[in-house]
Amino acid sequence: MVIAVDGPAASGKGTIARALAAHFGLPHMDTGSLYRAVGLAVLRAGGDPADAALAAKCARMLDVTALDDPALRESATARAASVISAHPEVRAALLECQRGFARQPGGAVLDGRDIGTVIAPDADIKIFVTASLEVRARRRQAETPERDLAVVHANLAERDARDSGRDAAPLRQAEDAILLDTSAMDREAAIARAIALAEARLAEKTALR
Ligand code: DC
Repeated sequence: MVIAVDGPAASGKGTIARALAAHFGLPHMDTGSLYRAVGLAVLRAGGDPADAALAAKCARMLDVTALDDPALRESATARAASVISAHPEVRAALLECQRGFARQPGGAVLDGRDIGTVIAPDADIKIFVTASLEVRARRRQAETPERDLAVVHANLAERDARDSGRDAAPLRQAEDAILLDTSAMDREAAIARAIALAEARLAEKTALR
């Protein structure tokens, strides 16, 4: 069983994907961390994330087993990740490891921007998690309270525009994805709703077989 969870930054998709993985006993991949690791490698090489050739080289050299650097969560890394992820060469270099993860026996849960549209278009369950920009900015700021809400808001708006506006695998809801708007939900309510939606979709699919 493959579960695809997509959505914009700070929508809660990571939390929901981890909860679904625990609920169904499946392995989970946070594909954003792959793009973050490439962005970080470019920054550490003193390069410009807009440099497609350098970013693609970093993507091809990526050690996918070492994605626990705390610097991956920094906002400069998030911005670099959003820039390098628009290069088709970078996306091509990261495609196979994501598809391979999705294909493993028993299945998997993957979260990102293009899981339901590109990485696993045949996923059994697709959930598109979203929340208003205001709610996402407040949530993100709560994780790093020293940051100014207006700055967090502006950073998220910039990332939304870049992630949705690019030509290569832009962020968008797959036609067969279930929409989950978590704007008015707390963490527990969003998780409970996602599990209920996934169970319902699974029951529907089983009944059709
Ligand atoms: O989910 P995240 O915030 O960790 O993702 C960081 C960036 O990586 C995001 O702004 C766009 C990119 N990304 C992507 O293009 N495709 C994915 N499947 C996951 C992330």
